[in-house]
Amino acid sequence: MNPDVAFAVWSRERAQRIESVLDARLAPATATPAQLHEAMRYAVLGGGKRVRALLAYAGGQLTGADTGVVDCAAAAVELIHAYSLVHDDLPCMDDDILRRGKPTCHVAFGEATALLAGDALQSLAFELLAEVAPRHPAAQCLLLARASGSRGMAGGQAIDLASVGAALDLQQLETMHRLKTGALIHAAVRLGVNCGRALTDVENAAVERYASAVGLAFQVVDDVLDVEGSATTLGKTAGKDAAQGKPTYVSLLGLAAAKERVEDLRAKAQAALSGFGPGARRLAEIADWIALRSH
Ligand code: IPE
Ligand code: IPE
Ligand code: MG
Ligand code: MG
Ligand code: MG
Repeated sequence: MNPDVAFAVWSRERAQRIESVLDARLAPATATPAQLHEAMRYAVLGGGKRVRALLAYAGGQLTGADTGVVDCAAAAVELIHAYSLVHDDLPCMDDDILRRGKPTCHVAFGEATALLAGDALQSLAFELLAEVAPRHPAAQCLLLARASGSRGMAGGQAIDLASVGAALDLQQLETMHRLKTGALIHAAVRLGVNCGRALTDVENAAVERYASAVGLAFQVVDDVLDVEGSATTLGKTAGKDAAQGKPTYVSLLGLAAAKERVEDLRAKAQAALSGFGPGARRLAEIADWIALRSH
């Protein structure tokens, strides 16, 4: 696509693209066991901002990767993310009934099917990376496994659950956010970057700084939106962090300071990209979008 095209047009085109990739890779809703496949498709298709897929595509642009090569990395990270949301919404976790403007997966299909849908989405993510990732499949699988496991997303979720009603300090809160959300966002960028030319050590360090800043910023904004957003704009229940006694940037610092932290992280992300040329344009635009989004 023409590199001069506006971010809104580019992101819409890439969101449509990832939708078709995911649609093609998920089993048909009629395949046995039909209820499980229907639940998987329900959890993945027709919703979500696709931030992680967009980050993978933007990372690929930084290193001149073919978009077709980035497809499976972008799809894999969206599948892990969708699984994490299905499990996050279960009664034993956040007990939510609304996700992406629809009833949550367990409300629509029952808890057992939702649990299995999450499991199977995780497996499908790795199947995709291992089977069709044309570049470095083992390294890509390792990266995604680490980001989503007990030292990444799942570990962050465990800390989140253990922290209900607890007074975390800022360092502990940051660690929790970096794990539960930052790790997968970070992996999205890296998976995309890895699909193109190899970077120098200095460039790799800059990508790390960028990915780590946007990863944390994403969850701080999520905390802010839980307070300032509505179910209509968010497509999920608002105000639930306070209702459930979750420590967040807002509960610890207040709204104004949480927003300042987002600005600081946005500036860090932009500064990290300063040594790159026009190839970093989409990464820069996504950092602004993540910081300024309203849903
Ligand atoms: C929500 O993620 C859960 C978090 C990690 C904060 P998103 O806000 O990216 O959810 P979708 O994919 O757009 O629904
Ligand atoms: C979710 O954090 C993190 C993961 C799903 C890994 P939240 O619990 O804050 O996400 P929402 O607000 O329900 O989307
Ligand atoms: Mg949660
Ligand atoms: Mg939740
Ligand atoms: Mg939240």
